[in-house]
Amino acid sequence: MPQERGLALVERDADGIDTAFRADVLDGLSQPQKAIPARWLYDDAGSQLFEEITKLPEYYPTRAETEILKARGREFAKRIGTGRAVIEFGSGSSVKTPLLLEAIDPAAYVPLDISGDFLRASARELGAKFPGLPVHPVEADFMRRVELPKAVEDLPKLGFFPGSTIGNMVAPSAVDLLRTMRATLGEGAKLLIGMDLIKNKDTLIAAYDDEAGVTARFNLNLVHRINRQLKGDIPVDALKHEARWNDEHARIEMHLVATRAMVFTVAGKGFAMAKGESFHTENSHKFSRRTSYMALLAGGWEPEARWLDSEERFSLLLAEARPPRMAP
Ligand code: AVJ
Repeated sequence: MPQERGLALVERDADGIDTAFRADVLDGLSQPQKAIPARWLYDDAGSQLFEEITKLPEYYPTRAETEILKARGREFAKRIGTGRAVIEFGSGSSVKTPLLLEAIDPAAYVPLDISGDFLRASARELGAKFPGLPVHPVEADFMRRVELPKAVEDLPKLGFFPGSTIGNMVAPSAVDLLRTMRATLGEGAKLLIGMDLIKNKDTLIAAYDDEAGVTARFNLNLVHRINRQLKGDIPVDALKHEARWNDEHARIEMHLVATRAMVFTVAGKGFAMAKGESFHTENSHKFSRRTSYMALLAGGWEPEARWLDSEERFSLLLAEARPPRMAP
């Protein structure tokens, strides 16, 4: 998942303002449907709140995916085989990654993350758990093709992209990313990817609008961040967290809805919002078997196996980058 970017990579202006953050927010607030790219939710406070979300009774994806990883180790071993270099897109969770590594006994582990600090911390942790496993962290933006370390060049590869993070992206971006992953990993590589499933609307909404209000705090943290880092005066108290199911796009949308008309400034620019208008802050796409296969195929990946948790809420898919065949 996205993390606070390593300090070295953040470009700031003379006032110390993160220029990419400002550009995204000012752009987004100028749209008819105000929208802010979801990656800005994940500063230190946001990442911590997301950690809390994963433990909520209503938020099933993390538990469901972990259950699959625990239960299906034998089948992973059979399908994936030992001796691969595991390339993880995002710097790895202390729970999920060890389960996979234990199951398939890889030859190397390569976590890719844009945040160097996060990357080095999780690489160290994993190295300690798996003495003898070569760990080669790479600080890179995996939305672009990444040059893998020489040491893993000749090893068969397995990409790992858990968490249904792919669901954050709209279809064209999701397909772009899958194609980019194929370019990074090369032909013959396999990909193990988590995709959350379409299900009962109430279950989905509860997962993104929990009783304890943690997801609401996670969403509102973005506004606190804007006010603090971009010299904003958005009235946080007049914004209400909302999780909506968009059936057309098969996704949960997080919004912050204005409970009254308001005017505010951000980085010196003025904005107005009518009562009931919202900021759209995140998408979380859900998949069926067919739409998950379609996404993989469009990205150049042939589906090979599919596993569900015992309550059939979440899917983990294995796909392979086969050489393209001539189509009729
Ligand atoms: C980290 C993108 C997988 O979409 O379920 C959870 C983020 N947002 N609750 C998801 C999230 C609100 C999460 N992902």
